[in-house]
Amino acid sequence: MSTSTTSPTAAATIDPVDTVGTSEAVDSPDTFGALDPDDSATYAAARDRSAILDALIDARAGEDPARFRMLTGDRPTGPLHIGHYLSSLRNRVRLQQKGVETFVVIADYQVITDRDSVGEMGANVRSLVLDYLAAGLDPARTTIFTHSAVPALNQLVLPFLSLVTDAELRRNPTVKDELTLSGGRPLSGLLLTYPVHQAADILFCHSRIVPVGRDQLPHLEQTRAIARRFNQRYAAGHSVFAEPDALLSEVPLLLGTDGTKMAKSKGNVINLSDTADETAARIRVARTDSERRITFDPSRRPAVANLLTIAGLFLGEEPEAVAERIGNGGAQALKGVVTEAVNESLGGHRARRADLARDPAYVTSVLHDGNARANAVAERTLATVRAVMGMSY
Ligand code: TRP
Repeated sequence: MSTSTTSPTAAATIDPVDTVGTSEAVDSPDTFGALDPDDSATYAAARDRSAILDALIDARAGEDPARFRMLTGDRPTGPLHIGHYLSSLRNRVRLQQKGVETFVVIADYQVITDRDSVGEMGANVRSLVLDYLAAGLDPARTTIFTHSAVPALNQLVLPFLSLVTDAELRRNPTVKDELTLSGGRPLSGLLLTYPVHQAADILFCHSRIVPVGRDQLPHLEQTRAIARRFNQRYAAGHSVFAEPDALLSEVPLLLGTDGTKMAKSKGNVINLSDTADETAARIRVARTDSERRITFDPSRRPAVANLLTIAGLFLGEEPEAVAERIGNGGAQALKGVVTEAVNESLGGHRARRADLARDPAYVTSVLHDGNARANAVAERTLATVRAVMGMSY
């Protein structure tokens, strides 16, 4: 060990951001592995916390951006569609505009958790960047990076893995679902452990806010447990990592144009990169029903309700109000309203996207800058982690 004056203790090396700390009690050994993140009580609690957090962001993000640092991200598996736009992209831009320090991870290693091929990785990554920029994420304020390009982030996975049990990972509901959907593939080590990798995505930059859908809540609970256990086990209770909070999307789950779960393979999605004509053609064949009067009735008329929800979200109206306006116009009028709402709202996005696509060097530079910034942050965090673990040589 060096004889320098900086001793490798937690207090001496913690990034100032971390010292905000958390009021949560540390895990006692008997609760280790007691995560049960998918019950509805947890969901209700997460919704309550999320609402408070949203109000706090409104009031305080401008003054104290680090307290509200946010990380979120996507897997680069294909083009983003209107569901992504309505439930996450718009919200990211909204938070960025409020002064929240924003990190967006393009989770390229996560692509191979449940499939054998990396696919068109490079093209998919660039396509995500185009949508981020076209939607209004500003690369000067928002760090857009690919986690494969940040070695120190990935190294955090090793100590973090020591803080979870295999039983805990095996009962993660999202991992289980993905395993089921992966068509009989055996459970790979990467799929089993990706919630821990995702914790590294979140914790390397000390992000405090993670905008997620309900399906990602178990990962956030896992991340909170890792932060807590790290502090307790390796940092003598000092807050090296604060526990992040979920910011749940207000947007209901959107279905594809056939009224079933959106999936590229089913041809039921409208991509942000689609043209106005492609959008119109897709909506023309959307499933509806034969009732002339358009009403918003999600349980009895799910496909119609879904189209009304999409139109309402783009128009900033309640779906009931859209239905009221269409009245006895029937499915054709409904489809006209949806097509116009989508195309008018996305016109600017699509034009900006097409412009940016003509400048591949710019997209590359955004990624390079984002990766450089993420590396600087990750190296600082890893240095802290190694120091508190007595591993600074
Ligand atoms: N798992 C997320 C998805 O499938 C992507 C992701 C990776 C992510 N790392 C993250 C989301 C960290 C939030 C925080 O969409």
